[in-house]
Amino acid sequence: MIVNAVYLTYTIYMTQAEKQKTADFLDLALDFYTCGYRGEKREYDFEDDAPSAKKSVDSADKHESIEKIAEEIRACYNCQLGKTRTNAAPGEGALQPLVMVIGEGPGADEDAQGRPFVGKAGQLLDKMLASINLSRNTNCFIANVVKCRPPNNRDPYPEETSACAHFLERQITLLKPKFILIAGRIAMQTLLKTTVAIGKMRGKITELTVGGASYPLLITYHPAALLRNEDLKRPAWEDLKLLRSKLEELNGGS
Ligand code: URA
Repeated sequence: MIVNAVYLTYTIYMTQAEKQKTADFLDLALDFYTCGYRGEKREYDFEDDAPSAKKSVDSADKHESIEKIAEEIRACYNCQLGKTRTNAAPGEGALQPLVMVIGEGPGADEDAQGRPFVGKAGQLLDKMLASINLSRNTNCFIANVVKCRPPNNRDPYPEETSACAHFLERQITLLKPKFILIAGRIAMQTLLKTTVAIGKMRGKITELTVGGASYPLLITYHPAALLRNEDLKRPAWEDLKLLRSKLEELNGGS
């Protein structure tokens, strides 16, 4: 109701484009409404850091490319997941990303489409990213620790995550994201080689070293966990705000 009142007041003074932007934003705000989020003005842009997803990548290895890695993933049978998948989901997004989001592994929708985070959790992830001006269409790359669906959405086995690890390492090395956002326990435990609970690790800035380079890293809850448990939305929103402030610092502060 409060959100509607604010919306109606502001729409009187808005252009059509501004109304649409506000409607999209309030849609997200409603998602966070139950945990106290009241919406904040999105007041920064990373357009300089957000080249088109189609732009080519400079790489130390001139023969390496995101598409080449993707082709290898699609042809990979290095673990048993290769036998049961319909499609591998190598990852997608901007080739010079501000943020690389790393999840666990494809579910049924991702397996059907060969794309990461396209089911219900993926739609929520897109909204969460949009709330801090991030998008797989402009300034984010989205990938998973395993590229093929574990049967019945079980957790990937250690031999599966290790067979797949070099693909993600090569993607990170090539993309050189300014920031990594880990979504969920499995991705966190796999990448940080820990068994600590996600509740203890989320919301803190740490670092991930890949191929000799260090990347600032933030861990947050998996969007699927937010769909199951409303109570996690508030801490997840706090994590996003922290990420936003760190990105603002990287962008020169604003
Ligand atoms: N969950 C994940 O961790 N990754 C996906 O791509 C989809 C759901």
